[in-house]
Amino acid sequence: MMVSPRVAELRSDGRTFHLGNGYFSYVMHILDGRYLTHLYWGAPLGWNAPLDPDSFILVAAPEYLATVPRGEDATEGDWPRAQSRFSLDTLPFEYPVWGTGDQRRGAVEATLGDGTGAMALEYRSYEIHDGVRRPEDLPLLRDDHNLGGATTLTVHLADPRGDVAVALHYVVLDRSPALFRWASITAGEGSQDASSREGASVVEIHRAESASVDLPTDHYDMVTLAGSWARERHPVRTVLTPGRHTVGTRAGASSHQTSPFVAVCEPESTERTGEVRAMALLYSGSFEAGADVDQYGRCRMTIGIDGYRGTVAPDDPFQTPAAALVYSGTGFTGMSDAFHTVVREGIVASRWRSTPRKTTINTWEAMYFDLNAERIATLAQDGRKIGAELLVLDDGWFSRRRDDTTSLGDWWVNRDLFPEGLGPVADAVRQEGLEFGIWIEPEMVSPESDLYREHPEWILRVDRRKPTQARNQYTLDLSNPAVVDFLFETVSTILRESTATYVKWDMNRQMTEAASPISRRHDQGSVMHRYILGLYDLMARLITAFPHVLFEGCAGGGGRMDLGLAHFAPRFWTSDQTDAVERLDIQYGSSLVFPPEMMGAHVSTVPNHVTGRTTPAWTRVLTALAFSYGYELDPAEQNVEDRATFVRGSELYRRLRDVAMTGRFVRLGSPSGAGGAVSANGGAAARTMIAGGDGGSRAWMIVADDGSELFIFAFRPLARPNEDPGALRIPSLPVSDAIFRDADTGRRYAAAHLRTRGLRLGGSGDFQARLWHLIRE
Ligand code: DGJ
Repeated sequence: MMVSPRVAELRSDGRTFHLGNGYFSYVMHILDGRYLTHLYWGAPLGWNAPLDPDSFILVAAPEYLATVPRGEDATEGDWPRAQSRFSLDTLPFEYPVWGTGDQRRGAVEATLGDGTGAMALEYRSYEIHDGVRRPEDLPLLRDDHNLGGATTLTVHLADPRGDVAVALHYVVLDRSPALFRWASITAGEGSQDASSREGASVVEIHRAESASVDLPTDHYDMVTLAGSWARERHPVRTVLTPGRHTVGTRAGASSHQTSPFVAVCEPESTERTGEVRAMALLYSGSFEAGADVDQYGRCRMTIGIDGYRGTVAPDDPFQTPAAALVYSGTGFTGMSDAFHTVVREGIVASRWRSTPRKTTINTWEAMYFDLNAERIATLAQDGRKIGAELLVLDDGWFSRRRDDTTSLGDWWVNRDLFPEGLGPVADAVRQEGLEFGIWIEPEMVSPESDLYREHPEWILRVDRRKPTQARNQYTLDLSNPAVVDFLFETVSTILRESTATYVKWDMNRQMTEAASPISRRHDQGSVMHRYILGLYDLMARLITAFPHVLFEGCAGGGGRMDLGLAHFAPRFWTSDQTDAVERLDIQYGSSLVFPPEMMGAHVSTVPNHVTGRTTPAWTRVLTALAFSYGYELDPAEQNVEDRATFVRGSELYRRLRDVAMTGRFVRLGSPSGAGGAVSANGGAAARTMIAGGDGGSRAWMIVADDGSELFIFAFRPLARPNEDPGALRIPSLPVSDAIFRDADTGRRYAAAHLRTRGLRLGGSGDFQARLWHLIRE
């Protein structure tokens, strides 16, 4: 019989919770019978490791701080006589609150029934359950996840006066390098004294983090992802100084500008060395993530929803989205390995786990709104010749939409362009041997549309104010179940009639006037969140009804690329930026969290439509090849040499993708400046690499899971004068005494040589791109 390894326990002292597996340990301690403190999050400790709370947590508090007496039986009255006191401001808390001594950022902030905001949370009880407990209506792990046996620990905290109760949930799995955490907040349940319950049901939540972790020092850097449209997810590394450092958005989507992800690492941490602790939110709406460094030089790391205000009642809790917490003792590579594993094996639907993504050809940059049945059939034919396996009919196929000013919401086929409907178009595409996919933007409506004329009350808007337009469109109110039902029927009809097996699900504007015409006054503050719940409900229903359809997540490129949507969308359109040089950093940064097969990467024509830059076809191919590969161009408009290059690219992709699906994606050291030193393993260059400040040089590789095959990519966008381009060292090869042969040149390399000396880069001129395909002998 298989015995499930131990992953969660309350130690025999009755006060210490230890969660862990082969990847991490996470420890909490109930101090003085009431304070749930955070002791440890890091490398696995072993179940019998000594854990003396005093060695982790107590700091002598100076006189001027608010202090409380120590001891299980201590009460307020003991204060003057207490031998020993401490300040809550000095304790590491598991779910801190503001107002009773801890002056740092609270994990939950609320207005209580009596209008006050000072909170206290004390330990009450705990439960350990087999299996995954999940926040209601929010994504966590798939039921058929592949991460081993699961255990959920729930720790109950309550305000001693009875206003508020908080349940902290922790999911730990045998084979998951991530710990999942979320909180559930209720009014009134923690009351010890029935007479104090009055007014409990009107507790108003202003903020509730999914995770807050107090780390023991301030000797850290913080890494976040920043950007804008067409420049998403550039890694930014900052030194943590005293004070609060945050990223976040209230745009109603996880956004182009930042991402629901934060990592805190040692200043010396590199791609392959040092400690990194990272959090990513399984959520697609407004959020805030960051780190506070306090007066004692300790760091409080947080992630959670933002832009939320809502009331809770005893039987109506607020459940936060879940956060995935990853600890790595092997730098950023270890962190990304962990995220890639949990996304692949736990978050993405099992059907797509080992199904390589098809080579795509998309109509958008090939023909924009200039579509018709004949052009699509020709594109399928030409696409097949360069290796495409899936054609996606993008924007412009419906109603009167000839540009972006009209028709969103009117999802009927434009019969002028497609006289026989979409069925025959899909058939023509399939006759060429390609699958057929379709673009939709269901969450939006154009003011110039029948849907808006019929249902002006279905958009997000503030009463008696003109709603703001963005890209000539309004946002439908997905907090309204009638709208969600309508969209379910509408998208189902499109899928049935078009027979599409692939959907590019777009969303092209940020939220403004995030208010719902059908919500009551006190529910308006939660509209942005209930919109996201409506979106998840809609997508969950569609995926159940159409399990064979692959949904690609898109939001003006990568404006909503997060682990929440990943639960429904096994592929993202990473960015509207298809310029090879600009793509390097976008893909590099996205790979911190996302495995390569989830990142749509298409070769487009030159000059590039966004940057106007002309790069060689081979550079464009290699830039895209390690990801979910495809084309965003009309092959008929390309010259013969470039078409031949694309054919070669598609062939290579078909070989590479099987390796990539089960293998590892590893970022390599950037080919760096004069002298050719490559620093994959330490020092300033590796640090700069994560900061993204080295002029765009990038390198990465795909390694087969048994180490038998390597696809190594290196890019050097700009030539520099009088410089040895150096060598690229290949770290951590699984088989150390192996010999590898270059599939193109036949040249042989010892693994030790690759590791210590590396591959010579060579080449001259701008836009250099190299691929080595090495096979173990
Ligand atoms: C934004 C997407 O990112 C593009 O790829 C394209 O689908 C357009 N929307 C269509 O309007």
